[in-house]
Amino acid sequence: MRRPILAANWKMQKTTGEAAEFAARFVPLVKDADAVDIVVAPPFTALDRLGQALAGSNVALAAQNVNAEESGAFTGEISPGMLVDLDCRYAIVGHSERRTLYGESDDDVARKAAALFAAGLTPIVCIGESLEEREADRTFEVVERQIDGSLAGLRAESTAELVLAYEPIWAIGTGRTATPEIAQEVHAFVRDRLRRRFGAAADAIRIQYGGSVKPDNVDALMSQPDIDGALVGGASLDPEAFSRIVHFQQGTS
Ligand code: PGA
Repeated sequence: MRRPILAANWKMQKTTGEAAEFAARFVPLVKDADAVDIVVAPPFTALDRLGQALAGSNVALAAQNVNAEESGAFTGEISPGMLVDLDCRYAIVGHSERRTLYGESDDDVARKAAALFAAGLTPIVCIGESLEEREADRTFEVVERQIDGSLAGLRAESTAELVLAYEPIWAIGTGRTATPEIAQEVHAFVRDRLRRRFGAAADAIRIQYGGSVKPDNVDALMSQPDIDGALVGGASLDPEAFSRIVHFQQGTS
């Protein structure tokens, strides 16, 4: 059984005060949710303050990005060791906004994921096709290329720790969620691809769905056999909405 993992991606939103306010309301709402992993990824600037507000709770801290180097002349960048210093447990890498707006390649993502593992952190590696690619029937080809490229060099012993997030770009921030069936179809394909590469160890890898996950569609998505969690943007900014997502009801879609 894979333990569900529900992660909030705040993107470039919330000040330190707003992050602390979120934690004050959110932590009591989810303290009973002991069968799932709960993760919040604020902007870098709020990591320290949010980390303090989450201390002792069942909510883990994540970064939204990282540099693959440990230190040096990389103006404006943040290293894995700096995230460890702030008690981060996870970092999102290869989000489609980073790939499309900042030119991140599969190779960059692979280097970041490897650097995170080396520092003892868990990468949440994002993949997903654009609308154009889906309409051209290239979804599986694109996803396969992203898996192979973004996980290049992943060591077998790290496999179980890995988290993947399938986020079709056309569903991100658009209110247009993939239907549970469409999402499951791609998740099953991803799992199959992982099995070919890592054997039975692939069954332990958690694959999140992301793209307009909301309180009213999370139950149906989480009822699919290969959907092991959600990476949530817009709906994670509100403590009540994200708490409802954390408390998804499996099998009652
Ligand atoms: P969304 O974002 O939930 O606002 O669609 C998801 C994401 O980009 O991770």
